[in-house]
This record gives sequence, C-alpha cells and structure tokens, in this order.
Amino acid sequence: MGYLLPSLRLCNYYCFLFSCCCFFLIMNPTTGTGAGQPSELVSSICKNTTNYRFCVESLYSDPRTPTADSYVLAYVSFDLAYLNASHTEDYIDMLLNNTTADCDSRLLQRLQRCSSFYGGAISALSQAVNDLDSETYSKLARLAGVAVHEACDCEAIFQGHSPFTLSRMNHDLRGLSKICVVISHLFTVSV
Ligand SMILES: *[C@@H]1O[C@H](CO)[C@@H](O)[C@H](O)[C@H]1NC(C)=O
Ligand SMILES: *[C@@H]1O[C@H](CO)[C@@H](O)[C@H](O)[C@H]1NC(C)=O
Ligand SMILES: *[C@@H]1O[C@H](CO)[C@@H](O)[C@H](O)[C@H]1NC(C)=O
Ligand SMILES: *[C@@H]1O[C@H](CO)[C@@H](O)[C@H](O)[C@H]1NC(C)=O
Repeated sequence: MGYLLPSLRLCNYYCFLFSCCCFFLIMNPTTGTGAGQPSELVSSICKNTTNYRFCVESLYSDPRTPTADSYVLAYVSFDLAYLNASHTEDYIDMLLNNTTADCDSRLLQRLQRCSSFYGGAISALSQAVNDLDSETYSKLARLAGVAVHEACDCEAIFQGHSPFTLSRMNHDLRGLSKICVVISHLFTVSV
C-alpha cells in the first residue's frame, strides 16, 4: 500500500505536467515548437515593441533565436528586416512592370516613389549589417529608424489606398525595423 501511493502520485505528477504542456501548446501554437516560451532576452525586447506577439513570432522564425545573445539577435532582426525589404522591393518592381503610364499614371508614380523608398530602406539595413560585422554600434538605431520611416512613407503616399498586399508588407517592414531599433538601443546604452 505504502508502495502504491507514491507511484500513483508520480503518475498524477506526470499527468499534470502533460496537461500543462498541452495547455501551452494550444495557447501558443506558433511558438509551441522547441522551447515553447520565448527566452528572457527576447521577451524583454519584445515587451518594448508595440506588438509583442509579432515581435516574438518574427524573431523565432529564425533558428538562431532560441540560443541567441543580444549580438546574435541584432543580426537576426536586421537580417529579417533586410530580407523583408528586399522581397517587398521585388514585389513593387513586379507591380511596376505590370503598370503602364497610359493606364494608370498616378499608380505608376506612387509605385516608383515606393521603389525608391525601399531602395533607401535596403541600403540603410545593409549598412547596419556591415556595421554589425565591424562591431560599430553607434549608427544602428538611426539606420533602423530610416527603414521604419521609408516603410511609413510608402504607405502614406497612397493615402489609405495602397494595394492590400503592399500595405501588409509596409506594415511588416515597419514592425521588423522597430524591433531593430529596440535591439540597437541595447548596444548604445551598454557600450
Ligand atoms: C525597455 O525599455 C526600458 C524603458 O525605456 C529600458 O529601461 C529597458 O532597458 C528596455 N529593455 C530592452 C530589453 O530593450
Ligand atoms: C516579412 O516579415 C513578416 C513578419 O516576420 C512575415 O510574416 C512576412 O512573410 C515577411 N514577408 C516577406 C515578403 O518576406
Ligand atoms: C516585366 O514584364 C516583361 C513583359 O511583360 C517580362 O518579360 C519581364 O520578365 C518582366 N520583368 C520582371 C522583373 O517581372
Ligand atoms: C504581373 O504580370 C505577370 C505576367 O506579365 C503575371 O504573371 C502576374 O500575376 C502579374 N502580377 C500582378 C500582381 O498583377
């Protein structure tokens, strides 16, 4: 009898753990793989952004994140923003390629301006990655801020009538670049 009781307890304990795991997997489907919970560093960074969930999901889309220190996270965030901006620029180029001036000159002009905004964002973000390579941290926050503004400027020139997909892409780049800004401040404050 005194033998059964602990093993029963043990079972209950494991059942309890199992239920907890299921609970977290259900509550947190996108980050449910691997660690389940964001690292303390990621969590503290994302709390300083406007969209915690977007921040955690974006950072964890990179396999380096679970074990990353702030230096690696800086690479992760700038790489994500850079790739996002490059994909969006490709998309804008495709839209441009499909738009003729006699058909819709206003759209054409707006897309051309967006293309140049994205050119600015891409060059700022690639400079930031170069700065990380050379361990130069002083301009990171400013460069990330440039990318935030370029994405906002592209969205603004459409005055609420941007093509839906482009609008989402502007929103994504803005969000990713804001994560870069928060991470950049970790360097300029502590170094
Ligand atoms: C978050 O913001 C607070 C207040 O501005 C700051 O003290 C803290 O260092 C920031 N933490 C991170 C991880 O960015
Ligand atoms: C941009 O980043 C967002 C957030 O991480 C992601 O959901 C989206 O698929 C990315 N878009 C492109 C075109 O890379
Ligand atoms: C632009 O359109 C032309 C003809 O419609 C096509 O041949 C070309 O590959 C397109 N370029 C891009 C970048 O989509
Ligand atoms: C642009 O044109 C190409 C072919 O010329 C077509 O395959 C593609 O779907 C078009 N894209 C958009 C967004 O209209």
